[in-house]
Amino acid sequence: MQGKRILLIVTGGIAAYKTLEVIRRVRERGAAVRCILTKSGAQFVTPLSLAALSEDRVYDDLFSLTDEHEMGHINLSRQADVLLVAPASADMLAKMAAGLAGDLATTALLATDKPVLVAPAMNVRMWEHPATQANIQILKARGVGFIGPNAGDMACGEHGMGRMAEPAEIVDALEAFFGPVVKRLSGRRAIVTSGPTHEAIDPVRYIANRSSGKQGHAIAKALADMGCETTLVTGPTHQPDPMGCRVVRIESARDMLAACEAALPADIAVCAAAVADWRTADAAEGKIKKQPGAAPPALKMIENPDILAALSAAGNKRPALVVGFAAETSEVVANATAKRQRKGCDWIVANDVSPASGTFSGDSNTVHLITEAGAEHWPTLSKTDVADRLAALIAARFEAAE
Ligand code: C5P
Repeated sequence: MQGKRILLIVTGGIAAYKTLEVIRRVRERGAAVRCILTKSGAQFVTPLSLAALSEDRVYDDLFSLTDEHEMGHINLSRQADVLLVAPASADMLAKMAAGLAGDLATTALLATDKPVLVAPAMNVRMWEHPATQANIQILKARGVGFIGPNAGDMACGEHGMGRMAEPAEIVDALEAFFGPVVKRLSGRRAIVTSGPTHEAIDPVRYIANRSSGKQGHAIAKALADMGCETTLVTGPTHQPDPMGCRVVRIESARDMLAACEAALPADIAVCAAAVADWRTADAAEGKIKKQPGAAPPALKMIENPDILAALSAAGNKRPALVVGFAAETSEVVANATAKRQRKGCDWIVANDVSPASGTFSGDSNTVHLITEAGAEHWPTLSKTDVADRLAALIAARFEAAE
């Protein structure tokens, strides 16, 4: 979406906070965002937040003479490539369906000759109401694109349809809208591991780690975007499923290995998961009870299978390119270079995960790519950019071999 211009209309809804993340992510991908904030939208996010993230002024007053002189509502919508309403309240959908134009947002929507996408967000009963459903049909028939909503828990305490799509889904929909990127990996298959694993102590307790899954999920998406048939094998995370991937959810390292083996053959394997090195020797079948006065139970640990090493040694099923990760807290490049040898993989993406780096659960990553040719030091990038750059190098490697 490099160079594309998005006119973002923010209406009133608790989900408006997620829209801030959408602005950040689409700008990371090179798109420009200009915001219109409705009166009720301003009850949920401030013009200052939108202005800071979009690095542009925020338009919120239809009757401002300066705006009308410098940037009339017609121009505002004509200068964009697409209009995105997020969150789109039930009230806004009704106004759009009826063609009302009582404020800047609705005027821009009525005056535009550009495509319109909406990400609805509302209470389940409002979503299900026949009035809203009729408005949706009208808007769909006019070509308005709908992103979500999703089902789930709502801020009002109810459960059901009406949660706004996650920022990643909205960005995916915008990317799909802006058209296909060159599918440099079409015809290839990839397996990507992501997230932590959970190793049971008993049916209610487990051992885990702080991996968020952000980097692994971003890599799966970047490969899928390039046309690669991608299986994402993921431990428990809060990341939304990346569009275009087959997602296999697992809990333990042993399940992850089994899922990866089942996904073979593949041309590419990227092991970004933070797999637990050990599991308890015998997970208890029932909950371990705390006995008054008794000593705490001792956990006997045994080693988990190494998925990266197993895929690297998979004989004639070995993917042509196996990429591992090395999370290090010191001597990052030296340790990662040794790890590449030890695991038998082709490339290692090494990163510093010392607490000061903020890598775990953070949005950026400073990595070094270790290949047979040596170490490449990358600048600090967002995890999405790390993923895109890695996917581009993977594509180049296969193109060179053709
Ligand atoms: O040995 P270490 O855990 O530092 O190696 C990290 C790399 O190995 C990562 O690519 C990780 O996904 C992979 N790994 C694995 N299975 C394990 C442990 C690590 O695939 N049991």
